[in-house]
Amino acid sequence: MPLYYQQNINDTSRLAVWKIEEEAAFFLQKVPRHLPAAHPHKQLQHLAGRYLLSFLYPDFPVSLIEIADTRKPFLPQEEYHFSISHSGDYAAAIVSSTHRVGVDAEMVTPRVDRIKHKFLHPEELAAIAHLKGEELITQLTVLWSAKEAMFKWWGRGEVDFREVMRTHPFVLEPSGMIHALFQKNEFSQALELHYRQAEELSLVWIASRH
Ligand SMILES: CC(C)(COP(=O)(O)OP(=O)(O)OC[C@H]1O[C@@H](n2cnc3c(N)ncnc32)[C@H](O)[C@@H]1OP(=O)(O)O)[C@@H](O)C(=O)NCCC(=O)NCCS
Repeated sequence: MPLYYQQNINDTSRLAVWKIEEEAAFFLQKVPRHLPAAHPHKQLQHLAGRYLLSFLYPDFPVSLIEIADTRKPFLPQEEYHFSISHSGDYAAAIVSSTHRVGVDAEMVTPRVDRIKHKFLHPEELAAIAHLKGEELITQLTVLWSAKEAMFKWWGRGEVDFREVMRTHPFVLEPSGMIHALFQKNEFSQALELHYRQAEELSLVWIASRH
C-alpha cells in the first residue's frame, strides 16, 4: 500500500500523502469518476486525492462533494472540512471535522526561482537573500507550498500572494512551523503553518480553529 506519509494532527484532523503507483481502477473502487475529459495522469491525481479522503475518514461522503465558483471543493453540510493537493506522483489530503484546513504538496524544482517575485513580498525575498543553489530552491518551494496552502485554507479565491499572505522568516529543517499572517481588507488572521520537507517533496498544511 503506497501510503507515503500519515499524521493525526489532533483528535479530529488527519493528514495523508499517497504515492501513486496504482491504475485508475484501484481508486475507482472507492471514488466516483469526476474528470472524464482530463489527461490520464491528471485524472489519476484527482482520483488519488478523493481516495485519500475516504482513506482518512471511511465515512467521508465523497459522492456529495460540490465545487464552488472559486473551484474549491466542499461538502454542503460541512460534515468535514478538507483540502487536496497533487504534484507529480503524489497526492495529499487533509480532513477535519472541526478545523478549517489547507494543504499543498510540491515537487522541488528550480522553476520556482523564476516566479519568486510573483508570490513573495520584498521583505520575504530579503529574508532569503543569503541562500543559494539547492538550499534556495528548497526554501522557495516550501514558501510556494505555504502560500498555496493558505490560498486553499482561505478558499474564497482572489488573493494577492505577495501582499495578503506574509510569512515570517524561518530556518528550514526537515520539518517545522512557519508563522504567517493572512490580511485581506478588514480580515486579519495569524496562522501556524506546518511543513515537512523530505526527498523530492515539500508539504505544507494548516489546521486552524477559525
Ligand atoms: C487552485 C490552486 C490552489 C491549485 O493549486 P495547484 O498547485 O495547481 O494544484 P494542487 O494539486 O495543489 O491543488 C489542486 C486542488 O486544489 C483544490 N482547489 C482548487 N481550487 C481551490 C480553491 N479555490 N480553494 C481551495 N482549494 C481549491 C482542488 O481540490 C484541487 O484538486 P481537485 O480538482 O483534484 O479536487 C492554484 O492553481 C491557484 O489557483 N492558485 C492561485 C493562483 C494565483 O493567484 N497565483 C498568484 C500567485 S503567483
